[in-house]
Amino acid sequence: MKTMNVGIIGYQFMGKAHSNAWLQAPRFFNMNIKPVLKVACGRRKEPLQSFADNWGWEEVETDWRKVVERDDIDIIDIAVPQHLHYEIALAAAKAGKHIFLEKPMAMTLEQAREMAAAAEDSGVTHYLNHNYRRCPAVRLAKKLIDEGKIGDIYHWRGAYLQDWITDPQFPLTWHLQKDKAGSGPHGDLNSHSVDLARYLVGEIAQVTAMTTQFISERPLPDADAATFKGGTSGAGMGKVTVEDASFMTVMFKNGALGSFEASRFATGRKNYNFFEIYGSRGSLIFNLERMNELEFFSKDDPEYAQGFRTILATESVHDYIANWWPPGHIIGYEHEFVHAMVDFMDAINRGTGIAPDFYDGVKEMEVLQAALDSASTGKVVVL
Ligand SMILES: NC(=O)c1ccc[n+]([C@@H]2O[C@H](COP(=O)([O-])OP(=O)(O)OC[C@H]3O[C@@H](n4cnc5c(N)ncnc54)[C@H](O)[C@@H]3O)[C@@H](O)[C@H]2O)c1
Repeated sequence: MKTMNVGIIGYQFMGKAHSNAWLQAPRFFNMNIKPVLKVACGRRKEPLQSFADNWGWEEVETDWRKVVERDDIDIIDIAVPQHLHYEIALAAAKAGKHIFLEKPMAMTLEQAREMAAAAEDSGVTHYLNHNYRRCPAVRLAKKLIDEGKIGDIYHWRGAYLQDWITDPQFPLTWHLQKDKAGSGPHGDLNSHSVDLARYLVGEIAQVTAMTTQFISERPLPDADAATFKGGTSGAGMGKVTVEDASFMTVMFKNGALGSFEASRFATGRKNYNFFEIYGSRGSLIFNLERMNELEFFSKDDPEYAQGFRTILATESVHDYIANWWPPGHIIGYEHEFVHAMVDFMDAINRGTGIAPDFYDGVKEMEVLQAALDSASTGKVVVL
């Protein structure tokens, strides 16, 4: 079987999710190209080595430029904070490597545009990882919409809510620093919701938004502080430079109205990636915390039997499911990443594109940027 060597940059949360997916993809799916876990990159040799040993990466490297420059690397997997996406993606495109990039795409719209142009110029396969598109229940939502079962869409009601920084003692990790993250939950969480809305409802025509900050200073982090396991350095406090929550309202080009809430202060909500879609013939509800299920209301049902039904999307007819378990043997968060790797490798093999790609990233950044502009000026932004 043909193989391709992967170099991954970043080895914590997404580093693990991606490593698992690279390993599982060829075990569960027939792939024409098998990924080889060649080199893992991070800044500190010792934790990096134990990560590499655990996941089977053949080599380690502490300088990402050296990984990108290696002739034997075919794919660069970017799993580091946003402030590094632009530089690494441009270097990878220039070196002719296929790019698997974590969201949000970049720090600014201008960066995203340059990245898309560079990837296109070099002819590489470029993918922006909005893994939720590859959840079978979300694919079912798309199928029902495409089949006309929802009719004309009137409303998108989205929320992506978490609560991991409600404790004021949670440290000032990179996610809370504008120069590393670009923005707070608006970029982090709304990027996923905007991608889902574009996928399911369509392009966005105009935007208004409000953002706020609840805690302005936090303890400085230690070197290992990450999203869900914060350690503080004891070296005092630092300023939070991103928003803590954002609320965005949009008009879609097709006339639908949409709302998007993103917060890391929604006490009790862990990874509540939720949407409702209301249309002229039916409606859909999805909640990632019950990710195998899709709620569907259809006006085509006889009047006496109308009501929301819950579809457990684990039959083999649902996308990707035939490669996993028998019906009802549910799948989880990590499976979406496996699906992304499978489709990404297939796109490389066929020489076709894969969605969402860097152009989708540019469209998404237009919306996210417009919202931040609206939040600071108080004005509607027309795209
Ligand atoms: N698709 C999703 O659902 C999802 C979920 C979480 C995070 N993300 C995205 O993935 C990216 C990484 O987030 P994370 O949660 O894995 O962060 P993390 O803090 O858990 O890990 C970041 C990694 O980047 C490495 N790193 C930082 N600077 C580096 C440098 N100069 N050179 C080499 N490595 C460096 C760190 O060593 C660490 O391994 C972010 O863009 C984030 O938005 C996506």
